Amino acid sequence: MTGDRSTPLGFAVIGAGRIGALHARHLAGAVDGARLVRVVDPDAGAARRAALAGAVAGDDLAEALADPAVDAVLIASPTVHHADQLEAAAAAGKAILCEKPVADDLSGTVRAMDTVRRAGVPFQIGFNRRFDPAYAEVGRAVRAGELGPVELFRSQSSDPGPAPEAYIAASAGFFHDSVIHDIDTARFVCGEVERVTALGRVRVDPLYAKYGDVDTSVLTLEFASGALGVLMNSRRTVYGHDLRVEVHGALGKLVAEDERATKVWRYGPGGPRGDYYHHFLDRFRDAYRLEVQAFVDAVRAGRAPEPGAVDAVESLRVAEAARLSLREGRPVDVAEVAS
Ligand SMILES: NC(=O)c1ccc[n+]([C@@H]2O[C@H](COP(=O)([O-])OP(=O)(O)OC[C@H]3O[C@@H](n4cnc5c(N)ncnc54)[C@H](O)[C@@H]3O)[C@@H](O)[C@H]2O)c1
Repeated sequence: MTGDRSTPLGFAVIGAGRIGALHARHLAGAVDGARLVRVVDPDAGAARRAALAGAVAGDDLAEALADPAVDAVLIASPTVHHADQLEAAAAAGKAILCEKPVADDLSGTVRAMDTVRRAGVPFQIGFNRRFDPAYAEVGRAVRAGELGPVELFRSQSSDPGPAPEAYIAASAGFFHDSVIHDIDTARFVCGEVERVTALGRVRVDPLYAKYGDVDTSVLTLEFASGALGVLMNSRRTVYGHDLRVEVHGALGKLVAEDERATKVWRYGPGGPRGDYYHHFLDRFRDAYRLEVQAFVDAVRAGRAPEPGAVDAVESLRVAEAARLSLREGRPVDVAEVAS
């Protein structure tokens, strides 16, 4: 791994599906101080398509990790592979940016994070919303005391439609896969969560029931600060990816919403229509680039990247508390969920 500012950080992207291909595109030309060296994916076509700017496409992680031109890995394979790949990359001394979540349970997450800590390699978890300019400003303003003490927090997110079955099967479940973004935003803005109460239903696609999962949920959060929060999530909003965050405090409120692709309203026979981003890959395109840029900047400057291992573990712990709450139909203290 290099902290040398004169040479760009060489990346291997592991997994070149929806999100990995986007990261590869950014690394091939849109991130200062970085270059794409390798793409690893068992799907040869996916690897080849993502291997831009002269990068080597392959299917062998060990070969990529043995390449001295690879300083860092960006893990974007299905969630079930993250922990093993993290441990291999840490053992090879590579800096690691890993898509969320690290693992499908807390013990796997803690184990992988311990390995990373022992190896002493830089680590960042892919909570991209922290790098979205609107979300970042809400977090900054709250921490700067603009609202005074926070009283209420609300975060709402939905995808345009359900994911393919193969993704659902490998996703670790709605709370760990998707709601975890809202959980991390809640922690980022309001601090640690003490108690969670979860409601969940299958309202969108019976496939989720087949995997013991839900596709529609409401979580209430009790923060250590005393503030209350609610997270509303759905796997379907037919008009496109939709999300908002709202924070109330003694001195007012902050709202991030209505992030539209353009500011144009179109008035036609069907009524008024805004240009919404249809998919999260479009809505958060800048945030995905900025998170990689922040990782590269931190590694090259010898700083610990953020969000790191603590965020990977603590956001997942809240997701586990939500899963337990849903299963047992009761509020769950996050402290109950032991590593
Ligand atoms: N931060 C975000 O907003 C965000 C968004 C989407 C996905 N993700 C995360 O990224 C990961 C990938 O999601 P996706 O939507 O791109 O999935 P995807 O199914 O579109 O792509 C996964 C890719 O990984 C490849 N793959 C399978 N096994 C592999 C292995 N052992 N090693 C390397 N590659 C392998 C597949 O061939 C496929 O090309 C998931 O963990 C998901 O939670 C994060």
